[in-house]
Amino acid sequence: NWSMNDFIDLQIAKIREEVGDRKVLLGLSGGVDSSVVGVLLHKAIGNQLTSIFVDHGLLRKGEAKQVMDSLEGKFGLNVVKVDAQKRFLDKLKGVTDPEKKRKIIGNEFIQVFNDEAQKLDGIDFLAQGTLYTDVIESGTDTAQTIKSHHNVGGLPEDMHFTLIEPLRTLFKDEARDLGEKLGMPSDLVWRQPFPGPGLGIRVLGEITEDKLDIVRDSDWILRDEIKKAGLDRDIWQYFTVLPGIKSVGVMGDGRTYDYTVGIRAVDSIDGMTADFARIPWDVLQKISVRIVNEVEHVNRIVYDITSKPPATVEWE
Ligand code: XMP
Repeated sequence: NWSMNDFIDLQIAKIREEVGDRKVLLGLSGGVDSSVVGVLLHKAIGNQLTSIFVDHGLLRKGEAKQVMDSLEGKFGLNVVKVDAQKRFLDKLKGVTDPEKKRKIIGNEFIQVFNDEAQKLDGIDFLAQGTLYTDVIESGTDTAQTIKSHHNVGGLPEDMHFTLIEPLRTLFKDEARDLGEKLGMPSDLVWRQPFPGPGLGIRVLGEITEDKLDIVRDSDWILRDEIKKAGLDRDIWQYFTVLPGIKSVGVMGDGRTYDYTVGIRAVDSIDGMTADFARIPWDVLQKISVRIVNEVEHVNRIVYDITSKPPATVEWE
């Protein structure tokens, strides 16, 4: 695509002129937008860019490794990875209210980010993956948590950054197009939306490590089977949830009393409204059999057949 190549050249020239020999900080969420900004900036200013990637322990299986392998490994970005799993889990202990969980995760995120940012010297710019849709409305995509660093005044008073937002004029599909033009792997470029609070709102009620494991492992199987069925680009968003209810089952000659896992899959344009996805029965069957067989403490699978409205996409 001709004009996207022009866009890249133009942005690189613009970034170089604005930044000069100064330094830029980027918060990587693992989502499409911040990753594309990272690769674009690295192309423009190389090691004058430092990225911070907070692993809050609420990421999907393999996600942190994939981000690091690709952005640091393949593209050579300078990424500071913060392992903050324990910090987040401690703060979330005993908390069951969905909005409280969101607030705690959001606040902790800002604090961890700030703690790391303060260790870095002489940063003048903060880069963000803001899209055109974020400019005209307050969006709810993955990058939102990162954006709030600035927007809610989460940054310490003594840190004054100038914002760099190279995707400000692009829609999501254009950001993906840009990512592909920059040579980014399609797994990263075509990543489905993922909420800032991550798996924290897919374990309903109190978050424990055991429950996170169940969601992570079942979600991994769901994604694997959706990909094998060639549906990964057709379905807008798909994931598993752990409602926390237990029910009776039978396995071998024994009675079981274990968790139910919910499958959520939706078609949507922007997440504002959504229709439940019609995953073929045989694909659902494979997913169901595999989750019950491979994930411990799960004996029942249900499929969410509500659309939005009246339900929301996430269960919390
Ligand atoms: P809901 O559940 O509101 O989800 O129908 C619509 C879209 O937004 C995502 N989502 C979030 N994204 N922070 C985010 O960055 C959040 O707190 C949040 N809650 C929901 C959700 O995954 C879906 O794509």
